[in-house]
Amino acid sequence: MMTLVQPVVPARGYAAEFGPEDRRATRRALELAVVIPVLNERGNVRPMLDRLNITLAGLQHEIVFVDDGSTDDTAAEIEAIARYDRRVRLVRRYGRRGLSSAVIEGMCASVARVVAVIDGDLQHDETILPRMLEAILEEGHEMAIGTRYADGGSVGDWDRGRVSISRFATRLAAPIMKTPISDPMSGFFAIRRDVLLEIVPRLSTVGYKLLLDIVASAPRRLDAVEIPYRFRTRTSGESKLDTAVVLEYFELLLEKMIGRWIPPKLILFGAIGAAGAVVQLAVLGLAHKIAGVGFAYAEIVAVGMAMLFNYTLNNILTYRDRRLIGLRWVKGLISFMLVCSFGAIANVGIGTVLYGQHGERWWLAGLLGIAVGSVWNYVATKWLTWRSR
Ligand code: GDD
Ligand code: MN
Repeated sequence: MMTLVQPVVPARGYAAEFGPEDRRATRRALELAVVIPVLNERGNVRPMLDRLNITLAGLQHEIVFVDDGSTDDTAAEIEAIARYDRRVRLVRRYGRRGLSSAVIEGMCASVARVVAVIDGDLQHDETILPRMLEAILEEGHEMAIGTRYADGGSVGDWDRGRVSISRFATRLAAPIMKTPISDPMSGFFAIRRDVLLEIVPRLSTVGYKLLLDIVASAPRRLDAVEIPYRFRTRTSGESKLDTAVVLEYFELLLEKMIGRWIPPKLILFGAIGAAGAVVQLAVLGLAHKIAGVGFAYAEIVAVGMAMLFNYTLNNILTYRDRRLIGLRWVKGLISFMLVCSFGAIANVGIGTVLYGQHGERWWLAGLLGIAVGSVWNYVATKWLTWRSR
C-alpha cells in the first residue's frame, strides 16, 4: 500500500566507520515520530497504541509520549509497554504544564525525518497519519495538517456553542498567520523535522495552539497540505481545556501581534493591578466608612487585601505555567508583598517629584508614578516571586 520506505544510504563517515557490511547500514531510516501529549489519559494509552500499531504497520516509526506528571498512572501504563516495545518512548516533565511546550519537547526528542502530533484521547483520526507522511515524503510538502473544516472533515458531535467558539477563535487568528490554513486550531498535524527546527527558536510555546504558533512564527509561508478528518467524541478521561487555556490563547495572539513591543504577561499583570485598585478602594470604603476603622488602619488592611488579590490572580492566570503551591505559595506571597511595597514607594516618590516640577499636570505625574511602579512590580516579581525553577 505505502511506497514510502527507502533504503538508507548511510552518511560516508558512518559507513566507513562501521564498514559497509555493518548490519545497521542495511536498516531503514526512522521516517516518522508520532508525539502524543498526555495528561491523565491512562485508559486511552493501550487503545491508542493498538490503533497506531495497525495504522503504522510497515512504516519506520516511533511513538513519543510526553507526560506532565499525570496523577492517574498514565506514565506507568506507558512504561509497561515501552519496556518491551522499543518504538514506544516516554518523556517525563516535572513542575511544568502546557500542551504546546510538551509537544515541542517530544518532537525535539526524536531524530525522525517527519514528526507528527496527535492527541492521546482517541479524538483524532489516526488512520490519516500514513497519508500525512506520504504528503510530506512523496509529494514534497513541508507540513500536512488534519483539518475539520474541509470537505470530508467535521467536528463530529460538538455542540453548537463549542463550534461557534472554535470558529470565532479561528477568525481572530487570521491576521497573524503567514500560511493560510482552514483549521489553525488543529492539534493534529505532521511537519518535516528540519523545517520545524528552523522555527523552534522563534516559537512562543504559550498554551495549547502549537500549530497556530508555528504558522505565525515561521519567517515565511510554509508549504502545507490539509487532510480532512472527523473529530471523534472522547470516551475515556476528560478534556483539559479550561478558562486558563482560553486566556493563554489570547496571550498567544497578543504576543504574536504586539509581543515585540510589550510582553502580554505585562498587559495581564497591569489589568489585574487595575482590578486590585478597585478592590483596595472597596475594602477601604467598607472598613473606614461602614465599619468605622480609622483611616490609616483601614488603608493598611485595604492595601494588604489588594496585594493578596493581585498575588492570587497573577499566580492563577499570569503565571499559570509556574503556579506556586503549598509552602512556596506562602514564600511567594511574602516576596510579592515586599516587592510591591517598594513599587508603591517608587510610585508615590516619582509622582511627588514630577508634581513638584509640573504641578498643573498632576494627573500625568500620577500616571507616570503608576507606570513606573507597575513595571517595577512586574519585572521584580517575575524574577523573585515567579522565577522558573
Ligand atoms: N503533556 C501534556 N501537558 N499533555 C496535555 C496537557 C499538558 O499540559 N494538556 C492537555 N494535554 C493532552 C491531553 O491529555 C490530550 O491527550 C491532548 O493533550 C488534548 O487535550 P484535550 O484536553 O483532550 O483537548 P481538547 O480535546 O479539548 O482539544 C484538542 O483538540 C482540538 C481540536 O483539534 C486539542 O488538540 C486542541 O489543541 C485542538 O484545537
Ligand atoms: Mn480531547
